[in-house]
Amino acid sequence: NRKIIMDCDPGHDDAIALILAGAKTSPLDIVAVTTVAGNQSVDKNTTNALNVLDIINRGDIPVSTGADRPLIKEAAFAESIHGESGLDGPQLPKEPNLKATNKHGVNVIVEHVLNSDVPVTIVATGPLTNVAMALIQQPKIAGNIQEIVLMGGGTFGNWTPTAEFNIWVDAEAAQKVFKSGIPIVVFGLDVTHQLLADGPVINRFSRIENKVSNFVVELLKFFQSTYKEAFDMDGGPIHDACTILYLLNPNIFKLQHTYIQIENQSTLTYGTMSVDLNNTYRHKPNAYFATEVDVDLAWDIMEQSLRSYH
Ligand code: BDR
Ligand code: CA
Repeated sequence: NRKIIMDCDPGHDDAIALILAGAKTSPLDIVAVTTVAGNQSVDKNTTNALNVLDIINRGDIPVSTGADRPLIKEAAFAESIHGESGLDGPQLPKEPNLKATNKHGVNVIVEHVLNSDVPVTIVATGPLTNVAMALIQQPKIAGNIQEIVLMGGGTFGNWTPTAEFNIWVDAEAAQKVFKSGIPIVVFGLDVTHQLLADGPVINRFSRIENKVSNFVVELLKFFQSTYKEAFDMDGGPIHDACTILYLLNPNIFKLQHTYIQIENQSTLTYGTMSVDLNNTYRHKPNAYFATEVDVDLAWDIMEQSLRSYH
């Protein structure tokens, strides 16, 4: 079983990632959830993480609040996509039944990685602030991180024409991570936009009818409505869930080993990911970049996972 830390900003698609990773049938051992400012303020994201873990009965997983703002820039939230709570749609308690630990998320990452007898995988589905801060605080952790599996970037943007939200929020942090030398697997918009939860997909999941699948359906319906409004797309891309689908079955995705850099000097293209898919730089690759997904297999695996909840 792989040990993973889920660093996230839930967020509809982060919530789905947590649900897939935390299922009884999942071979992933979630040692910690850490939250970061992104889709909403870090406190709202923590509340959402706790509510999601409560719904899936995984109060055993500790949640710790991390950075409340990017390394250098001011915080910016994605209210237009995830709503005022960060997880609008389903009815959720304002005061969650579960409590967060009183440790800072960055310290939790450092401690877990340093003390683990096996290398730890970091799954990052929000801005990379916590991961970068952990690497700055204790550079030694790099040696005990098996992989950083992240959602972010792509060869086009969704927050500016060329920048994706997670990278754009904290490009300084992203740059630190891509220069770290740690093995990285990237799920960017190129591939996440191939997995759209549109009407037929939502109908398919509504037929499962258990507490968790019903919750996911409510999330997907809200996500579908904001994606229609903001991007005129027919379904919400389940971006962050790609990281876990990959860990559950790597064969779902086609990856290209390539050289990735992050732009943070320009006002026009701040937060843009440069993905050298044509090997223009002839530079040693530093990441695996997902280019294609087997859509049918991905939905099948998601359905199996949702059915494992009763
Ligand atoms: C990313 O930004 C957030 O809104 C989502 O949760 C996802 O991590 C997509 O650009
Ligand atoms: Ca996210």
